[in-house]
Amino acid sequence: MKCHPRGTRDVLTFFILFAFIPVTLCSLMQNAFDINYWRCVMKRTDQCPDMDIKIFLYSNGAQRKKLIDVRNKNALRYSGWDPSKRNVIIIHGFNGTESKTPMTIIRNAYLNRKDYNVFTVDWEPLTFFPCYLSSLSNTRLVAQCTAQFYAHLTHSGASAYDIHCVGHSLGAHICGMMSNHLTHRQHKIIGLDPARPLVDRYGSAEFRLTRDDATMVQVIHTNAGFLGEAPQVGHVDFCVNGGRLQPSCANEPRNIRRARCSHFLSACFFAASVSERGKRHRGVPCSSTCQPLSPAYTKDVRVSMGFHTPDNARGTFCIKMRNSKSCPFD
Ligand SMILES: *[C@@H]1O[C@H](CO)[C@@H](O)[C@H](O)[C@H]1NC(C)=O
Repeated sequence: MKCHPRGTRDVLTFFILFAFIPVTLCSLMQNAFDINYWRCVMKRTDQCPDMDIKIFLYSNGAQRKKLIDVRNKNALRYSGWDPSKRNVIIIHGFNGTESKTPMTIIRNAYLNRKDYNVFTVDWEPLTFFPCYLSSLSNTRLVAQCTAQFYAHLTHSGASAYDIHCVGHSLGAHICGMMSNHLTHRQHKIIGLDPARPLVDRYGSAEFRLTRDDATMVQVIHTNAGFLGEAPQVGHVDFCVNGGRLQPSCANEPRNIRRARCSHFLSACFFAASVSERGKRHRGVPCSSTCQPLSPAYTKDVRVSMGFHTPDNARGTFCIKMRNSKSCPFD
């Protein structure tokens, strides 16, 4: 459905746009008022499945990704799903796609382990630049339809314990919002620099990732306070290289590009943790604003970031990571 400048939601949208637009969002939405704006897609349905939201399965044996149709009871069985493996659901963010970096890097990291079925959520038609407000509104339906798929997965025999939801930016909030539609708590959510613009001021707990959304909510911060939320969001939060601006993005020409580059890297740093060797990426306790603590507190406490973080880890940890060349920002 196209959005027209009519109806209560649009009035609200315009109110938010004109009255409260945060400075950071301004640069993100510099084109918000050109003709593109009128082609923003804002979904007003609560019917799932929805043709603009697709779930794909990648499995090691298969040459191509398989589209999962949850209306078919046997969809998973016939698409190469391996019930003996664990499962990850990967959700991209604003202006993202499931088939490009950095999502592909996370997907391949899980596939390389060979013990995961990898599902990706494609909601590209509902989240293109510059339509941030519509995207934000559409996260609700994406969460609902992904929760429907999640229920399909558990009904097919997967245990919640063996499902990770990994979301980048707005995708992180979608992982969290899935819990509005589930009767049992998710086991693990990994939020990669969860989106901040507007969410921090206007998103109630129901519309954002919080630590109530899973037994283990982990958040990795790489652009905190700008495109990403500030710690502490999860049971355990990691601040990479100070959590705000990534050193390897320092040469980007404009502020917004430095921010987008830093925001993007959360996915790459997480992907680096997924292999067995990824255990070596460990952080030390730091303050909830990513400031170092006195060495006396941090000496012997080191916690692996990302895939290998123990479920009982709590608090904020700081970690230094080098940018990997295999994770280029466009
Ligand atoms: C949006 O995505 C397109 C295609 O991937 C990319 O070229 C463009 O730079 C992105 N724009 C923003 C503002 O993120």
